[in-house]
Amino acid sequence: MLKIAVIPGDGIGPEVVREGLKVLEAVARPTGLRYELTHYDFGGDRYLSTGEVLPAGALEELRQFDAIYLGAVGHPDVPAGIVEKGLLLAIRFGLDQYVNLRPVKLYPGVWTPIKDKGPEDIDFVVVRENTEDLYVGSGGFMHYGTPEEVATQLAVYSRKGTERIIRYAFELARKRSKQRKVTMVDKSNVLTFGHDLWVRTFAAVGEEYPDIQKDHAYVDATCMWMVKNPEWFDVIVTTNMFGDIITDLGAMIQGGMGVAASGNINPAGTSMFEPIHGSAPKYAGLNKANPLAAICAMQMLLDHVGAAEAAARVETAVTSVLASGNIPDLSAGKCPPTSEIGDMVAGAV
Ligand code: IPM
Ligand code: MN
Repeated sequence: MLKIAVIPGDGIGPEVVREGLKVLEAVARPTGLRYELTHYDFGGDRYLSTGEVLPAGALEELRQFDAIYLGAVGHPDVPAGIVEKGLLLAIRFGLDQYVNLRPVKLYPGVWTPIKDKGPEDIDFVVVRENTEDLYVGSGGFMHYGTPEEVATQLAVYSRKGTERIIRYAFELARKRSKQRKVTMVDKSNVLTFGHDLWVRTFAAVGEEYPDIQKDHAYVDATCMWMVKNPEWFDVIVTTNMFGDIITDLGAMIQGGMGVAASGNINPAGTSMFEPIHGSAPKYAGLNKANPLAAICAMQMLLDHVGAAEAAARVETAVTSVLASGNIPDLSAGKCPPTSEIGDMVAGAV
């Protein structure tokens, strides 16, 4: 019995999650998959009514599940950072989900803004470190609100944290068995302490993988190559902040936020799957958001928990729906209604 915690969250979260669960239900029948859902109302609305983001004991409770399925967080009436840090980052850090896995894959029939590039050129995975870097929340203010104000925000990298994410990337390159290449993306020409640790760790771990090609690119150049030569990439491993930024670019070249999914993975614990897009409050409740990213996140969840056949069916269904041409524009507001896209995929599994 697969136990899934469901956190629909804010904005369009609930409606895209609904479609992901519709697809789960549809794929469970032919595959004999048995599952149990537990819904949680965590998010901006709950914070506004209770003053609390995650109640005491929530992390302990979430840890008991096989996986967590998250919609989106971010509420227009809640100051920026509260739900993001109090919910999303609290779960990522608290459950030690140290890998943020973000596939950048252009499906056939999907429009990409990159001229002359197709599905055979855009198929790589970004392995984003998910528990360190500028995200640790270390820093502060001096002389707050005065002309003399000074603010600091510390980037933190540990040898252990760096090593485990780099090792994960090498293992993934082996498992994918495509170009068998890992590109480390950093800014070691300027961040000569923190990213020097990354460079040395990459070299050391890389020695354990003689069969995998080691490649290196600065993050600014990576943005250029992702547009000019996306086919060069197989597995990218990078820091938390850079991974955040380049995966929005990655989402665009794979057809937009409507299809980009991600997994926050703790290989030895409970992982959480979510679309990369945000809560998009202006589309909330209008049945206008594209649920494909959430559906692809469900596919990643199924794959992760070992429901390989169900995951494969969902991917095949998404591929066929996209190839059918029935969703000529994937963007919110221009795509078919949220529930109809869910029906299309559920019908195709
Ligand atoms: C993402 C988001 C989050 C991040 C925010 C909402 C904290 O942008 O998942 O990419 O920065 O990781
Ligand atoms: Mn982001």
